[in-house]
Order: sequence, then C-alpha cells, then structure tokens
Amino acid sequence: MSYSARSRAIEPFHVMALLARANQLQAEGHDVIHLEIGEPDFTTAAPIVAAGQAALAAGHTRYTAARGLPQLREAIAGFYARRYRLTIDPERILITPGGSGALLLATSLLVDPGRHWLLADPGYPCNRHFLRLVEGGAQLVPVGPGERYQLTPELVARHWRAESVGALVASPANPTGTLLRRDELAALSAALRARGGHLLVDEIYHGLTYGVDAPSVLEVDDDAFVLNSFSKYFGMTGWRLGWLVAPEAAVPELEKLAQNLYISASTLAQHAALACFEEETLAILEERRGEFARRRDYLLPALRELGFGIAVEPEGAFYLYADIGAFGGDAFAFCRHFLEREFVAITPGVDFGRHLASRHVRFAYTQSLPRLEQAVERIARGLQSWQPDAL
Ligand SMILES: Cc1ncc(COP(=O)(O)O)c(C=O)c1O
Repeated sequence: MSYSARSRAIEPFHVMALLARANQLQAEGHDVIHLEIGEPDFTTAAPIVAAGQAALAAGHTRYTAARGLPQLREAIAGFYARRYRLTIDPERILITPGGSGALLLATSLLVDPGRHWLLADPGYPCNRHFLRLVEGGAQLVPVGPGERYQLTPELVARHWRAESVGALVASPANPTGTLLRRDELAALSAALRARGGHLLVDEIYHGLTYGVDAPSVLEVDDDAFVLNSFSKYFGMTGWRLGWLVAPEAAVPELEKLAQNLYISASTLAQHAALACFEEETLAILEERRGEFARRRDYLLPALRELGFGIAVEPEGAFYLYADIGAFGGDAFAFCRHFLEREFVAITPGVDFGRHLASRHVRFAYTQSLPRLEQAVERIARGLQSWQPDAL
C-alpha cells in the first residue's frame, strides 16, 4: 500500500514516543510529572461547562452556519472592542475547529503549490506541516535570543525568496513564550507589505501574558490574518474551537473552504463558548492567569539556577525553552534520561524545528506549584546522574 508523499513528509510529534513511555511508566505505578503537555491542567471553567450542558439539554445538536454562530462571532467582536479597543466587524470572524482549523483555512486560502512562508525556527511544528499539506512549503528562519526568537524585518529581508508569499508568526510564541510588541508587529507588517506578502499572526496564547498585554496585529494592520482559539486562555482544548479574523474580501472564499472542509465547528462547543466572555468566567480565567504567572516566576529562576540557559524571559504562554548546552549531550537522550531516571517528562527541541534543536528542551508549567517544586528536586538529582556521552 502506498500513501501520499504529502502525508509521508509530515513528521510525528517526537514527544509522543516519550509520552507513550511516560504513560507506560505511570501504568507500572511510577509517579510521572508531566511537563511535556501543551495544555492547561485546569478543567474548563464551570460557567462554560454549564452553558454547554444547557445547550445540549436545549437540543442544540445540529450544524451551525459554516462561519459559526452569529452570536458567538458578535461576542468575539465585543471582546476585541473591550480588550484591544478594536472595532472588528463580526462578518470578518470565522469560527473554526480549534486554532488548527483556522490554520487549515488560512493556509488553504493563501498558499499555492510551491509557494513558501517564512516561519521562525524554533516554532510550532504543525505550521510547516499545514503548509506542506497544501503543497506549499516553509522557509525556516533560525531565530535565537538576539531577536527574542521572533521574525524581524531584517530577517524577512534576508530570507525572502522569489517563491515566498508570507510570514506566519506567533505572539506569544510556542515554545519560547516571547511576544511581539506593537512597533515590532507594525515593522513586520510593513516589511511584508513592501513585498506584497501576507502576514498571519497566531494569537492563540493571548490572555496568557504576565506583566504585559500582548497587542493584536489588528491594532496596526487591518489586512493581517489572525488565528486564535478557545483552547489555551479559555481552557477549552478538548472542545476544539477557535477562530480566524480575515480581511473582509477574503471571507466568501474562506466560507466556501469551511463548508467543504468541515461544514461547521462543533455546535455544542460554540454554545458553551458564549459563556467565555461573561464577567464571572473572565474572573476565573484571570485567576488562572495569575497562577500561571506564579508558576513561571518559580520555575524560571529555579531552572536557571540549575544551569539551564533561558536567555530571554518569556512573557507569555506556559513554556520555558531551555538550552541544555551546559550539560552536554543530545536533547532527546536528555529527555529520555529524565523520564527513565526521575519520571519527569519534558519535550525535546526537535519537536520545534531544526535550529539548535538537539541542544534545547521545552518545559510546560502546566502543573501545580508543589508538583513543579517536586520536578525541580528531581531534575537537580537527575543532573547528577546525567552522562552526556553514555548511549
Ligand atoms: C502556537 C500554537 N498554535 C496553534 C495551536 C493549535 O491549538 P488548537 O487547535 O487547540 O487551538 C497550538 C497548540 O498547541 C499552538 O501551540
């Protein structure tokens, strides 16, 4: 049986092999601390769950319009008005099955075969796979602490090729947690505009920033495409709901794609998400944001103290991307060592690209503070037994 080249070109998440082993160890009775998982440890906030239950009881079990429930699109537009002081026409908002659905729509719309997008490396791995799926490609741009792991106009100028048609950036970013400021977004937007390129900004970690607010690219560029999600800040990963904000002219094409690709996003999830923007829910989400901030404030200095290199203080998301150069050895072997010896699961850099990937690991602080403290104790101990050259 032969499968498509497109499918074969897509890499699995390498961390899945570690996760399978972690689950096996757990089944054998070991107390595994999961710092590899990119989703909030909190369950969905009670008012959202109640709204979902009420929607089910009321029989909201049919398809919605492909663009999504009008009242949810209006609620999101209201959220942009309150949080960002932005007027976004609800007609420009499409509700999607997760931010992943928004990525599928955007790449399907904007990428022709053989066309490339600029992506920061390290970055979210699925981006390049979505581009491959639509027969386009990713131009991976190595980034580091110098540019706070983000694309800059200079990097765009240096890496732009005849086949380049856009750039996809995430702010805050996964795996590094760094943000793009308003002036940086404006400069990036200008750099792409000058080349006739598109700008797609992944704002899925908005709301999860600590001490600063992340500006939306829509504050400086009304023509940018924005993907967002109910997964992270709103804590609804398993409900599979996100959205895309697009320029008005692109909406009919996107609607057509949505109709064909998935008909509509989950109706139940859309009704539940209406409760996301109520004061009561937002108060819970803000409390959780505070908890993530406390975790970051604990884990960041604790890891630095142990010798992990975290050159740039992450201001958002719930990840720390750490250089393990001080300890030597390969990141995948390093992750395996900590899992086997100390039952701490972390993600190897290879899952986020190629640039210095074997020297980096990602910690997700999606565990309670006491669990993080335990993890740090175990990591300190595991470093004593780490032999970089052992196979
Ligand atoms: C940067 C980034 N974008 C998009 C996604 C997709 O998330 P979802 O489909 O749950 O909205 C993720 C998930 O981890 C992510 O980290």
